[in-house]
Formats: sequence, structure tokens, C-alpha cells
Amino acid sequence: MPESEAALEGWLHVPDIDTLSQTFCNSDEYKTLQNSAANLVRPPINPLDWPACFIESHVDAVTLESLINHVEESWTFLGETEPFYSVLTTPSFLKSSFDQNRTSFYESAQRDIDRLSAFAARAGVALPLNGMAFEFGCGVGRVTRLLGKVFARVIAADISASHLLLAEQMVTSNNASEHVSFRLLNKPAAIFEVRDYDFFFSVMVLQHNPPPVMAQILDAALQGLNMGGFAYFQVPTYRLGYAFRSKDYLDNLGPKGNMEMHVLPQKEVLSIIDRNRCKLLEVREDDYTGHEDGISNTFFLRKG
Ligand SMILES: C[S@@+](CC[C@H](N)C(=O)[O-])C[C@H]1O[C@@H](n2cnc3c(N)ncnc32)[C@H](O)[C@@H]1O
Repeated sequence: MPESEAALEGWLHVPDIDTLSQTFCNSDEYKTLQNSAANLVRPPINPLDWPACFIESHVDAVTLESLINHVEESWTFLGETEPFYSVLTTPSFLKSSFDQNRTSFYESAQRDIDRLSAFAARAGVALPLNGMAFEFGCGVGRVTRLLGKVFARVIAADISASHLLLAEQMVTSNNASEHVSFRLLNKPAAIFEVRDYDFFFSVMVLQHNPPPVMAQILDAALQGLNMGGFAYFQVPTYRLGYAFRSKDYLDNLGPKGNMEMHVLPQKEVLSIIDRNRCKLLEVREDDYTGHEDGISNTFFLRKG
């Protein structure tokens, strides 16, 4: 708005609206305002008024088993066909070009470890490096190799025998096999058999499981964690337009090898944390899914 009547009168001589707007745009006042506005641009935040999604997070045991069977079938197939590309979906990690990109594939895990260290530092805690770490969904051992360097003992587990075999071969070739052991978790109860670890770690895994499976995994993971232990995991907690109904899902299963992406609402994650007597130390939005229409969170917590 013009600041005064006098300012208005000063412009009445201008012949037309186009000349007026061009004069304004070329003025020093406008350029200064534009620069300070540019400095104020912040990264976009996800809208706070996104609507609730319908997500069935609890199902009976038979349904749960069918859901897990489908995950197993899909990921075993992916491990047999494109094991590295199924972990990091970038053309350079397709089987045809993997050999020349192997180093950058495994080095990419340093970012995950650096993030973990930063979470621990911000929370003002020391990770239990002399204890046992449980890596859930280790894939081909991308992060396992570095966890094995940092923690005294590591259990690396996966639902896909084909991924697990490659992880084992990689760890053995790095001479780290004495303190890293491997577990195939291909039935619903298998995760409950891993117990008494001091640290739980999982990134880019839960998202590939339907919400009731994610809920069961997290519950089991926090049950098996020792008192005083820490958990660090990533899970998508929202996606615009996402819905999950187990019956519709099982009636219309996609082809095996389809890399499905699912969501577990934050309220479910928080109630699992709560009922397992864990204390949330930090939760952050992360970039693991790359979805602009959703939210993925990394949680860091301590038990007890
Ligand atoms: C995208 S890869 C990520 C691998 C590894 N976390 C990394 O960051 O390199 C997903 C892995 O999780 C495994 N996975 C998916 N669902 C699982 C489940 N319910 N139980 C165990 N492993 C699972 C898959 O077989 C696959 O190896």
C-alpha cells in the first residue's frame, strides 16, 4: 500500500499501469525488499493440516502370517534378482554395473553411522559399544560392516536368505566374521527369539512391511532390548492418501518383487515405545523414503 497521499500524487504523472509496475520493479526499494525476502526462504515444511489416514495396524495371527509370507517372498525374489539395487535404488547398483560401484555402495553407510553418532551426541548419551547390537533387516550388509567395526558384537538379521548370504560373504571377506552373526527371520515368531541386546538398529526396512507387521516388529524389538539399551530406527509415519486394510491388501497382492512402501502412524510408534517402558530421546523427520507427500521419521530412544 502507498505510505501516504503525497506518495500517491507523486506517481499520478505515469502514463499507464505497465510503466508504473516496471518503474516499481526497477526501484532500489523493491530490490532491497526482494533480497531480504530471498534470505528468509526456509526449506518447505510438511503441511500441518494433512488429514488423518485409515490404517489398520492390528490383525489376527493368521492374517499376520500371510502378510509376512508375502514380504518374505518379495524380498527373497529381489535378493535373487537385484540384491544391491533393491537396497539402494540407483542404476549404478544394478547387477550389470555393480562391480565398478561396489566401494561407493558400501561407503554410503558412513552417513548412517554419522547420523547415529549425532543423535547420541545431541541426546548426551554414550552408545553401548562394548555390548551387543541387533541390526534388523541387514540386507547385503551395507551398514553391518561398519556396525561390526563400532560394536563389540553384532547380530545381523534379515527375512531374505538371498540378501543374508551376500551380507555374510561381505563380512567374512572383511575379516569381521568372528563378532558378527547372522539370523534368518522368516516366520512371525523368529524376531522374538533374538533377545538381550543393548542396541537395536534398523533403517530402510520397516517401510517395506504392512503396518501390522511393522507394529509387531517394533514391539518385539523393544521387548528384546536390555534395560538401559538404546534403539535407533527409521519408519515412515505418514503419506498423503495412504490407507491400509488387510483384507483389501491380501485380496489384491501386487507382483512379487514389487518394492512396497508402507506407513505406521506416529501414534502407534509412540504407544509401542510407551508400553515397552522406553523413553523417546529424539524423533526427527528424515529423507530415507524421498517421498514429498509423506513423512519418514528416525526415532532414538532408551529403555528404562
Ligand atoms: C532396502 S533394504 C535395506 C538394507 C539395510 N538396512 C541397508 O540400509 O543397507 C531392506 C532389507 O530389509 C529386509 N526386510 C524387509 N522386511 C523384513 C522383515 N520383516 N524382517 C527382516 N528383514 C526384512 C529385506 O529383505 C532387505 O534386505
